[in-house]
Amino acid sequence: MAHSAAAAYDKLIFELSSPGRVAWSLADADVPEADARTLLPAKHLRSEAPALPEVSEFDVVRHYSRLSRMNYGVDTHFYPLGSCTMKYNPRINEDMARLAGFARLHPLAAEAVAQGALQLMHELARDLAEIAGMDAVSLQPAAGAQGEFAGVLMIRAYHRSRGEKRTKVLVPDSAHGTNPASTAIAGYEVVEVKSLANGEVDVDALARTLDTDVAAFMITVPNTLGMFEPRIVEITELCHAKGVQVYMDGANLNAILGITRPGDLGFDVCHFNLHKTFTTPHGGGGPGAGPVGVKAHLEPFLPVPVVTKDGDVYALDWKRPLNANYIMKRLEKVYDIAVPGPCMHECVLSARRQKKLGVTATDIAKRLLDLGFYAPSTYFPLIVEEALMIEPTETEAKETLDQFCDAMIQIALETETTAAVIHDAPLTTPVRRLDQTKAAREPDLRWSRRP
Ligand SMILES: Cc1ncc(COP(=O)(O)O)c(C=O)c1O
Repeated sequence: MAHSAAAAYDKLIFELSSPGRVAWSLADADVPEADARTLLPAKHLRSEAPALPEVSEFDVVRHYSRLSRMNYGVDTHFYPLGSCTMKYNPRINEDMARLAGFARLHPLAAEAVAQGALQLMHELARDLAEIAGMDAVSLQPAAGAQGEFAGVLMIRAYHRSRGEKRTKVLVPDSAHGTNPASTAIAGYEVVEVKSLANGEVDVDALARTLDTDVAAFMITVPNTLGMFEPRIVEITELCHAKGVQVYMDGANLNAILGITRPGDLGFDVCHFNLHKTFTTPHGGGGPGAGPVGVKAHLEPFLPVPVVTKDGDVYALDWKRPLNANYIMKRLEKVYDIAVPGPCMHECVLSARRQKKLGVTATDIAKRLLDLGFYAPSTYFPLIVEEALMIEPTETEAKETLDQFCDAMIQIALETETTAAVIHDAPLTTPVRRLDQTKAAREPDLRWSRRP
């Protein structure tokens, strides 16, 4: 390397050390001095002094100045590195990132003292959604590759929510290495799609590979050869016709920014490498920022927390379980909802409407047993009349939720037509309706051989 300063640097700081040499000189203390060894617990004391270099202030400053000049970087030289993370970050961005309101904000600071930062995040997510033509954005992923991973997991959750078990993700052979890596980590088989000699995706080869086992097609636009894919709209339409989600690796978004938008090209998900397209600080290889944008159908699967705004107040929304809200939405026409949603983990219904027709929450719970479902919690919380508390896990498939909702709707209809069948329930269980208090207080759990 042609660095004269670097050549002058030929010693380690330890080799510059000379016993007794110091880089400081402090005024005498104006308070009584004490030996630190008498103040600290013995278990925290070293048995011998650390082997630190003993050097003058000049030694230290010159050592590190020489060292810094061995660095090859954008501050001093042209930096032709392609594709990878570090683009040029204007100094003003570095300055802004160091503003105390950002840099000194504790990650666990209360929302009330972080309103400015939350507002900024809320507006950033909104602006990115607009820029990309997407419906919602999560700022959670900390790098492009993490954005890809989050995007593929959202696609997986989406297919699962529809009861589909697709196993493959298609990736062009020109893709950045992180694309097949994040796809494989998400548990998918990666299938390579060959490019044509001119670098474009071979659309015929793609069409032949698309089938109902394919979860997604992940493609970089413009691609890693620096080309805009001219048949991209045709490609996204081909994929959608087979129920395949289309992911845009947005690492090169700067090239199309303000000209077109991933959402308008038909993409369902894209990530943004903010450290590439928007020059956000990304010193020394990290941390970066790889927000993901999605179309509305994937929004329920966005990584949390997202920043929400209620009036003038910004907040972190950690939980947005899908299944409880899905059940609540499906049942709200036939049962009263205890409090307006969206609910954060469980949904609470009230059977007060049914009670007027003589059917209680207990009756409904018993009838559910006949229809093949365990009963929800009843009469809790106490403040809700005829409460039915339902908390499905997020891993339940949509079909199961639908069967449960169908059963609940059937019971609501029976209430109006054939209530007797509910009062008699359960009819199909090994034991019929028990005296619940007796069963709880005097359970008959012993078995003895009959004489
Ligand atoms: C095309 C492409 N995709 C994905 C990535 C991954 O982004 P990150 O380095 O932020 O994880 C890069 C970055 O080098 C890239 O160039």
